Amino acid sequence: MEKIKIGVDYYPERWGEAMWESDAVRMKEAGIKVIRMAEFAWCKMEPEEGRFELDWLVKAVNLFGSYGIQTILCTPTNCAPLWLYEKYPEILQVQRDGKRTYPGVRSHRCYNSPIYRLFVERIIRKMSRVFAGNPYVAAWQIDNEVDAAFCCCDVCAEKFRGWLKEKYGTLDEINRVFGNEVWSGSYSSWTQIQPPLGDRSLVQYNPAYLLDFQRFASDGVVEYVRFQANLLRETFPDLPITTNTWYCDYMPDFYDLFEELDICSYDNYPSFEISEEGYSSHAFHLDMMRGVKRRNFWIMEQLGGAIGGCWMPMGKTPRPGVLKGMALQAIAHGADQVLHFRWRSSTTGAEMYWHGILDQNNIPGRKYRELQDLCRTIEKQKGLEETTILSKVAILCSFDSEYAWKLQTQAEGFYYLEQLQALHAAFTGYGLNVDIIHEEAPLDEYEIVAAPAVYVRNRKTARQLHKFVEKGGMVILTARSGVKDENNNCIMEAMPAGYREMTGCQVEEYDGIGHETNTVIMDGIAYPVTQWCEILQVDRAETIAVYGGEFYAGAPAVTRNRYGAGSVYYIGTVGKPSFYEALAKKMLEEKKMRFTTELPARVEMTVRENDEKQFVFLFNNDKKEKRFVLEGTTIELQPFEMKIQEKIKIK
Ligand code: GLA
Ligand code: ZN
Repeated sequence: MEKIKIGVDYYPERWGEAMWESDAVRMKEAGIKVIRMAEFAWCKMEPEEGRFELDWLVKAVNLFGSYGIQTILCTPTNCAPLWLYEKYPEILQVQRDGKRTYPGVRSHRCYNSPIYRLFVERIIRKMSRVFAGNPYVAAWQIDNEVDAAFCCCDVCAEKFRGWLKEKYGTLDEINRVFGNEVWSGSYSSWTQIQPPLGDRSLVQYNPAYLLDFQRFASDGVVEYVRFQANLLRETFPDLPITTNTWYCDYMPDFYDLFEELDICSYDNYPSFEISEEGYSSHAFHLDMMRGVKRRNFWIMEQLGGAIGGCWMPMGKTPRPGVLKGMALQAIAHGADQVLHFRWRSSTTGAEMYWHGILDQNNIPGRKYRELQDLCRTIEKQKGLEETTILSKVAILCSFDSEYAWKLQTQAEGFYYLEQLQALHAAFTGYGLNVDIIHEEAPLDEYEIVAAPAVYVRNRKTARQLHKFVEKGGMVILTARSGVKDENNNCIMEAMPAGYREMTGCQVEEYDGIGHETNTVIMDGIAYPVTQWCEILQVDRAETIAVYGGEFYAGAPAVTRNRYGAGSVYYIGTVGKPSFYEALAKKMLEEKKMRFTTELPARVEMTVRENDEKQFVFLFNNDKKEKRFVLEGTTIELQPFEMKIQEKIKIK
């Protein structure tokens, strides 16, 4: 297995050959083993149509290679050269207002454009020829931060019609499924099917239609990435291929996106500003990335300096310990490579103030020394590369629910992924590893499975959860479960539809209270709740908490039901961290699982292990020092410090 590597993102096209060698020397001295190059370098590789110049890139790859630094090469397809847009303006995305995007920034291309695909294929084939057999190319990254934004061009419109035809067959069926009688919206010809063009906000469109358009947009980008991966595989069948994803407004379905790629990778810019309210730890994002392929992942861009200075104001410079600590936090959650964005802050371009390891002055300073320290720390962890993370608790994630939720605001401040995050924070707070996995993933290895807000129906998920409880597992369901069918229409049944048997309760009425608060009383303690309150009618379940206020004071808010050999909790509202902590403790005690109550707030513990060894990671994700006793040993952690303890497993 490959060693765990620390790296940086590097832009040789920006710095010019004269600087490469001194950069390579400094990188080597820091302990850098890998760099990522070329994701925005198309105009330098193909300055005019059909004239390719790749010698400079080969030279760069070879030069860094000679210093022991491998390259993750990128397909440069995020930014087509301007000549390409000028000659073929139809490859530009069309926005919802019907206008083509104006080229001049980046990411303007329509993934579905056949002409664009032709040029993409050409540059990839050219790069493949030039880099075939190059020993310094370690992997490929496809494009850069692809998203599933809504392109409304004619090609996409036609492709969407084809997508619907394949799914539903006839216009009548589409009309039925979309419920198009509402507002007299039935299609009488295929040409009436359009992308969501116009100046009305998306929330005014039919949710069934919109969810399909979002799925179609995601499928388009997934297909585009596969198209590139297949081209690369012709020449590089043994190299890992990835694409760097991120949490953005129009996320592609991560599970689909990475299904045919070798490794999941992610751009990680954790905040070191600690909010007392809410959930700010990127442990959640990292665990979600590990869950995409249910295996370790890479970070292609990691916080390297002060961020912002472009679409948001410049932020603070990372405090001492932050760069190292946050990179180790990613490793603690399963990252096997961490590449920092970027080697040096740029002196030109829109993002010149998005800082790298070196500032524009090109003088190695505090951040460089911290990176060096990080590399040395990683070097010392022998065998860490062979370890993975084993968890007894899983949280299910559904992109259908994420999309449907985003397309229709449920109540102010109420957000799907945050329901997952709340439970994640509660269980990890007790020192447990937690997996976040696709809703259809196998559940055999878990003791507790949370399926927060299973909002859009998935029959396979429901079947698996039933089996899991029947065999003795514990399931947690939360508010807004069993609401929608697969088409994003409401189910005419009591909620949680498809789960009432196992919950032993049903939703009598609900109250979207948004930013207002109510309380629930559990074990004599009042906990504030907000956003959403479901008044539960208990059929067979036991009441765990009741509402403290409103016309439904005294009505059940949280229940537990025995089902098969297992049990099911239903949480009908949205609490603050202390509420989920109290609930998680109850659940862990009921399952007789091992956990610790000794971790102070914002101290995170994870374990990476293999058959022989365990690496215990203790991370202080806070700007205050921490001193506490864990299993009889006093532990002190500086702000953002990570301590790694190696333990031999006793068999
Ligand atoms: C993203 C992009 C990078 C860079 C950074 C900073 O992660 O992939 O190219 O723009 O953001 O904004
Ligand atoms: Zn398009």
